[in-house]
Amino acid sequence: MSIFLHPKTSFLTLLFLSFSTFIAQAIVPQNETFKFVNSGELGPFIVEYGADYRMISIFNAPFQVGFYNTTPNAYTLALRVGLQRSESLFRWVWEANRGNPVGENATFSLGVDGNLVLANADGRIVWQTNTSNKGVVAFRIIGRPVNNSTLTYLRLGIDGNIKFHTYFLDVRDGVWKVTYTLFDRDFDESECQLPERCGKFGLCEDNQCVGCPLENGIFGWSNKCSPKPLGVCKASEFHYYKIEGVEHYMSKYTIGDRVSEDNCGNKCTKDCKCVGYFYHKDNSRCWIAYDLQTLTKVANTTHVGYIKVPNK
Ligand SMILES: *[C@@H]1O[C@H](CO)[C@@H](O)[C@H](O)[C@H]1NC(C)=O
Ligand SMILES: *[C@@H]1O[C@H](CO)[C@@H](O)[C@H](O)[C@H]1NC(C)=O
Ligand SMILES: *[C@@H]1O[C@H](CO)[C@@H](O)[C@H](O)[C@H]1NC(C)=O
Ligand SMILES: *[C@@H]1O[C@H](CO)[C@@H](O)[C@H](O)[C@H]1NC(C)=O
Ligand SMILES: *[C@@H]1O[C@H](CO)[C@@H](O)[C@H](O)[C@H]1NC(C)=O
Ligand SMILES: *[C@@H]1O[C@H](CO)[C@@H](O)[C@H](O)[C@H]1NC(C)=O
Repeated sequence: MSIFLHPKTSFLTLLFLSFSTFIAQAIVPQNETFKFVNSGELGPFIVEYGADYRMISIFNAPFQVGFYNTTPNAYTLALRVGLQRSESLFRWVWEANRGNPVGENATFSLGVDGNLVLANADGRIVWQTNTSNKGVVAFRIIGRPVNNSTLTYLRLGIDGNIKFHTYFLDVRDGVWKVTYTLFDRDFDESECQLPERCGKFGLCEDNQCVGCPLENGIFGWSNKCSPKPLGVCKASEFHYYKIEGVEHYMSKYTIGDRVSEDNCGNKCTKDCKCVGYFYHKDNSRCWIAYDLQTLTKVANTTHVGYIKVPNK
């Protein structure tokens, strides 16, 4: 069973804790517990409110949990929705501690007792779910499109207004057409599946950024690795280069369209916003990408990526 707050009763349409139906044996297994500390580098992209932020590895694309602040050292733990390419869509849709910020080194944790806690560095609890010994066994983000084409949610704005926001899930060829499934926080792959793991662009393997896959070869990764700026739209002005044995972070959570490899390419070519496409030859699945970020290296060379680059 999962908590699911209906949009009619709450602005929160996503989330949360998985409960066991067998309360007697319900403690959170060690591998499902976590403790994230709010410290380290700030994220590189522009997000809503012009905030600074630190995302943490709890995500289910396009949702991700992170700390953000608009005033120094006053962080809010929030859930963000969006893709990097379309920064206007990077929105904070839910906040744990509105109006009661935490500081550096604050922690967000799920202990064996099943209570989800946000606390300041000194241990002072700022927000908690009060679910100790209530049968919680794990924490998940459950994306739940309200409608098969859009995700609409109500939001209580900072100004006290309640507004509707709609995130279009399949305006372009059904990129987010699937209904989100429970995301298993799998430590073996979670880091590479994190879209921002390798910054703007990079190949990820075993949690590490291992290469910068440019047209003339794979170079050592650094945070300067980025795709060549496109800036063109006409098919005569760009071409693609191919990377074998990679997957886009979308590929794991969305089914992709079942089309031929050529048609997959045509879709991207006709779409100015498309920056590349990803194809699995073994099951003829196609993903059109509007951002690249972290690509995961896979053994199977039938999983390929084509990156759009300008001719000049
Ligand atoms: C956060 O914790 C680290 C490691 O314990 C420490 O070095 C740092 O000074 C702390 N930062 C603040 C602002 O307390
Ligand atoms: C948890 O309990 C505290 C104290 O009763 C309360 O203030 C808080 O709102 C509760 N948290 C949630 C998420 O309901
Ligand atoms: C789903 O969203 C579309 C586009 O915004 C809208 O026209 C339609 O009425 C919505 N359907 C439901 C059931 O909310
Ligand atoms: C979404 O709903 C519309 C009508 O409500 C339907 O025509 C369409 O096939 C649905 N799409 C998916 C992916 O289920
Ligand atoms: C934790 O371990 C259990 C049993 O081995 C496994 O089913 C589950 O997927 C693991 N969870 C994570 C987050 O790795
Ligand atoms: C690649 O995928 C195909 C189809 O699923 C499979 O037959 C093949 O064994 C895979 N190759 C590797 C190296 O995993």
